[in-house]
Amino acid sequence: MGISSGAANQEHWSGRAAFILAAVGSAVGLGNLVRFPYVAGDTGGGAFVVLYLLCILFIGIPVLMAELYIGRRGGGSSVAAIRRLATAEGKSSTWALIGWIGMVASFLIVTFYSVLAGWVLHFVLVSIGDLAANVGENGPGALAAPAFANMEEGEISAQLGGLVSNPTRMLVMHAIFMAVTVFIVSRGVKGGIEAAAKVLMPIFFFLLIMLTLSSLVNGDAAAGFSFLFKPDFSALAANLIDGSILLQAIGQAFFSLSLGSAMMVTYGIYMSREEDIPTSAKVVGMADTSVALVAGLAIFPIVFSFPALAANLDEKGAGFALLFDTLPLAFHQLPFGGLFAIAFFIMTLFAALTSSIALLEVAVAFTDGDIDVAPDQRRRRRLIGAISLGGLAFLIGVGHALSQVPVSVQDTFFNSWQPLGAIPLFAGKTLLDVVDFLTANVLLLLGGFLTAIFAGWIVSTSAAKEELRFGNEAAFGRWLFLVRWVAPAFVGAVLIYGAIISPVLAQRAERGSEAAQVIEEMSQPAE
Ligand code: PHE
Repeated sequence: MGISSGAANQEHWSGRAAFILAAVGSAVGLGNLVRFPYVAGDTGGGAFVVLYLLCILFIGIPVLMAELYIGRRGGGSSVAAIRRLATAEGKSSTWALIGWIGMVASFLIVTFYSVLAGWVLHFVLVSIGDLAANVGENGPGALAAPAFANMEEGEISAQLGGLVSNPTRMLVMHAIFMAVTVFIVSRGVKGGIEAAAKVLMPIFFFLLIMLTLSSLVNGDAAAGFSFLFKPDFSALAANLIDGSILLQAIGQAFFSLSLGSAMMVTYGIYMSREEDIPTSAKVVGMADTSVALVAGLAIFPIVFSFPALAANLDEKGAGFALLFDTLPLAFHQLPFGGLFAIAFFIMTLFAALTSSIALLEVAVAFTDGDIDVAPDQRRRRRLIGAISLGGLAFLIGVGHALSQVPVSVQDTFFNSWQPLGAIPLFAGKTLLDVVDFLTANVLLLLGGFLTAIFAGWIVSTSAAKEELRFGNEAAFGRWLFLVRWVAPAFVGAVLIYGAIISPVLAQRAERGSEAAQVIEEMSQPAE
């Protein structure tokens, strides 16, 4: 038995497959489909990918094992689990701070995640609407038509801009997405999270495989491979010098594996004693990494088969513009593109949904509190927790959504509000930018750093060994070494670099260029 006291009544996954699906569902999200191609493309393609794989292998998966065993051994919620584990070892209950950091991080992430997922929902609806209209006009044969057959290219490119210029539309999409998240979380671990993952994840994988095969067959597979996997050594060198590539790789590994957010601790709580944590963690880590790489192969070959789109990619980058502008333009040229577009956006939506469920669950597990209460009371408490936390996240998300509206379209207050504008680093940054920076660059890394220290140094090795049950001593020794030394050293270094050194450098550079501008202005002859 673990040391959890109030856990007799704790809900559990119905089995190994259920846990794996739910955990992979949490890990696979916008981080794989939007953030990964963007970061990889930006920092040197294959060189970044190699570094990323090393980070997953030597830092991500060991920390994932740590989070799962901490959750399972502690029980309750992430905060309660860490507190129980610390006090059982005779250590300070202040360690529960790790749970708080993670919980705040995941709650803050869901506030903007839902807004961005709302954009995806908008594109699902637009692509379905377009194909339906086409079939309505031209009969079922129109199912073979390219995407957005009735639109000009300019109109397709203007979709994203049109969406962010329409606050009502954005908020309605955000509200729908958050409401679905709340509904699923309110139904609990088995009836909600697990049930959703069992439906959404198989569909996700099916769509991903279909889209990838069609992209490799119809697109320029060689160009896609070379973009993703061929190392760009000049970009790598430039990035290595200022250290940012390691920050990007570790940051992406943490975001993608949902680490440092208390999320895996929370899903670990619902694991049964029989589950083999090392194997589960490896499966989840590999599945998440494969999805990131395979998704790249679903996207880039298609894009590179059209030179104009490759130029579009160069010009507008590989972030949301890739998803909502470049890719729709690619589907616009393909037979059956209408169906591809629908499949692609539904796939992305499902991935985002299983992640937002996990993000909200962390805080709801906390408000569930002591779970030794009558089942109907427990259900009501969960419902109230999910609705109030989801409602609060929705409200904060309204600020994020309104911050995206171009000032030239409408003054929404949030689009000119700079919450931390007084601090030079955050000058010009909106609420969404600030929350994004604080979560991905600071809180997740801080949470992960402290988790590694906690699991490696604070919890006794006998307890860790008992939970992890590696087949042999050497494997345990390797894990312990990675969690004690490698993870804290690297995560700590990039944390200091990302949260302190690089902002200061950026600020200096900015000041430098401001000064240069002032000098230049002064040296202009007066008119
Ligand atoms: N891993 C998710 C993604 O890749 C995001 C996430 C982070 C989910 C933290 C839960 C906790 O999109």
